[in-house]
Amino acid sequence: MSESIAPKSPPDSLTITRPDDWHLHVRDGEALTTVVPHTAAQFGRAVIMPNLKPPVTTAAQAQAYRSRIAAAVPPGVAFEPLMTLYLTDMLPSDEIARAKDAGVVACKLYPAGATTNSDAGVTDVRKTYRTLEAMQRAGLLLLVHGEVTSPDIDVFDREAVFIEQQLIPLRRDFPELKIVFEHITTREAAQYVHSAGPFTAATITAHHLLYNRNALFLGGMRPHYYCLPVLKRELHRQALVDAATSGVSRFFLGTDSAPHPAQLKEHASGCAGCYTAHAAMELYAQAFDAAGALDKLEGFASFFGADFYGLPRNTGHITMRRQSWTPPASFAFGAAELKPLASGEALQWQLQA
Ligand code: DOR
Ligand code: ZN
Repeated sequence: MSESIAPKSPPDSLTITRPDDWHLHVRDGEALTTVVPHTAAQFGRAVIMPNLKPPVTTAAQAQAYRSRIAAAVPPGVAFEPLMTLYLTDMLPSDEIARAKDAGVVACKLYPAGATTNSDAGVTDVRKTYRTLEAMQRAGLLLLVHGEVTSPDIDVFDREAVFIEQQLIPLRRDFPELKIVFEHITTREAAQYVHSAGPFTAATITAHHLLYNRNALFLGGMRPHYYCLPVLKRELHRQALVDAATSGVSRFFLGTDSAPHPAQLKEHASGCAGCYTAHAAMELYAQAFDAAGALDKLEGFASFFGADFYGLPRNTGHITMRRQSWTPPASFAFGAAELKPLASGEALQWQLQA
């Protein structure tokens, strides 16, 4: 009699090293008191994006911003914000040494006009070369919003065109600058990062793993699924799932959780950004579970980012259980309301307190 091999049933509980979020927007002021506790409940550290109004462009501003974020961390919770500067055409190269001394880990390159609060961004990357040289020397990372901004280029093609026009030349000119291609959304980007060598990595959001562009239009226009780079076709989502679950250490977690007041998303010219910090690890667990790859989540969420940044891995743990729960449909957000992604829908995994 041949022995039957029962299919291994997926686990109902998952304990992993405490993860980090390598791409996060927390805004400022009163908003911090809503969103920082959500992230701090899940992650040990988060890389904080500098696209405030006005942007964070000096070491002193980054330190002051870090203090405001730290003040919003609930008592008894260990959470470390990792600060970044906003790269502009004029960011002086001597600010990089001050930034390094202040513990700033990276600069963020927003092509001018590419996304939320990117007006002060880079108009021509060659204008930043002296500053990039200083970053390469100091070991600061360059985090890239990888989309061209030309109105002639279709919005769904802007990431792929950016690779050819901007990223390949940049990579060639700064061979030892660590570059993170942030929130990649296409097969082209995943292939590029696979082949680009040890100094290039990518973050991947939970929403780009879970949804394709149909989500924007399911039953009507759904502004809470609108982010930049915008959701793409299913073949791209599958390429991202393959990359995230590949075990290749240059793909790691970055939520790009980006809170906006609900009335500015449900608007004639709605803001780009999906809020996922309230259930970030649960959303990633759902995506990895659907791919049959829960065993790959810990590397992606807890090890690879720290290794690429040259920081120690976290030591604590988190546990998630497979149990259906429905997060709140909205949160208070200053005087406004904040509606998370998949608002009002049940999730299959839940973080244990
Ligand atoms: O969807 C996005 N929202 N993409 C970005 O690049 C910026 C972010 C934000 O700050 O709202
Ligand atoms: Zn972002």
